Amino acid sequence: MITSSAPGKIFLFGEHAVVYGKTAIACAIDLRAHVTVEEAPTIQMKGPGGSIDLNPRKHPYIYYVVEKFKGLTDVTGVNIDIHSDIPVGSGLGSSAAVTIATIKALDAYYETNLTLEDIAVMGHQVETEVQGRASPTDTFVSTFGGMVQIPDRKKLGFYDMLIVIGNTGKFSSTRKIVSNVAALRERHPATIGQIMDTISTISETGIDFIQEGDFHTVGELMNINQGLLDSIGVGSKELSELVYASRKAGALGSKITGAGGGGCMIALCEHKNLSRVAHAIKRAGGDSFICRTSNAGVRIE
Ligand code: PMV
Repeated sequence: MITSSAPGKIFLFGEHAVVYGKTAIACAIDLRAHVTVEEAPTIQMKGPGGSIDLNPRKHPYIYYVVEKFKGLTDVTGVNIDIHSDIPVGSGLGSSAAVTIATIKALDAYYETNLTLEDIAVMGHQVETEVQGRASPTDTFVSTFGGMVQIPDRKKLGFYDMLIVIGNTGKFSSTRKIVSNVAALRERHPATIGQIMDTISTISETGIDFIQEGDFHTVGELMNINQGLLDSIGVGSKELSELVYASRKAGALGSKITGAGGGGCMIALCEHKNLSRVAHAIKRAGGDSFICRTSNAGVRIE
């Protein structure tokens, strides 16, 4: 029996701007997906009512991972069991974490000796096969962990940060929101271009302040980034309510993470304010999760 795990991710800065080649900072968090594999008569998934054979419609990510392994080795029967702390469909990279953890578990089980680079590439291919188009950010961060500058995918030094995630519970389609921003940019190329440049500058200066451990300034930059995300139309009433509630409760800074329109926001906190901020987010109608940034990528447990 082998268990592996892989982390979810947040955007500290720069989502949307990164679509136009600008700088963003993504970071792994300590919410993880765990995958256990063990010998079985067929390729099957463990569920609440027992195990069922792997079904491409019910388990598309796992299905495509298994297909990839069929190209690498003799795939024998295996039971796959998934447990994840990461809320699904909320921009925290839950599908990437499940995909990457499954690849690592099967790699160890079938002894295929994949490198981390191989795992990240395979994970991105699987996400692209399932979703049609997928950014490589989630699978990269989930594989390598830590703080990553994108689009260059450069791993930065690691800094421990306390974060409260607020989930609006509202589904939003990344593809639709990215296409709305593209349409806005077509109507106002100079204005939106400058906003994207400014977001890029925020990411670049943000890296310096993170490395200096100046989290008050990092929080201030997150708030400026949030204002600019609102200006390009990716905010929502629910997200704003969580953002303002967290600031009022003492967060150093707060902003949307990911595509926006729904999904999640993050609040950077000092230890003394963590539970106050988490409660304030709950009172404002969100689900809240206290977490920290994490340097741990995919691993065997
Ligand atoms: O909501 P998520 O985690 O899929 O993030 C989307 C981030 C965008 O910058 C809006 C799009 C992208 O591909 O980077």
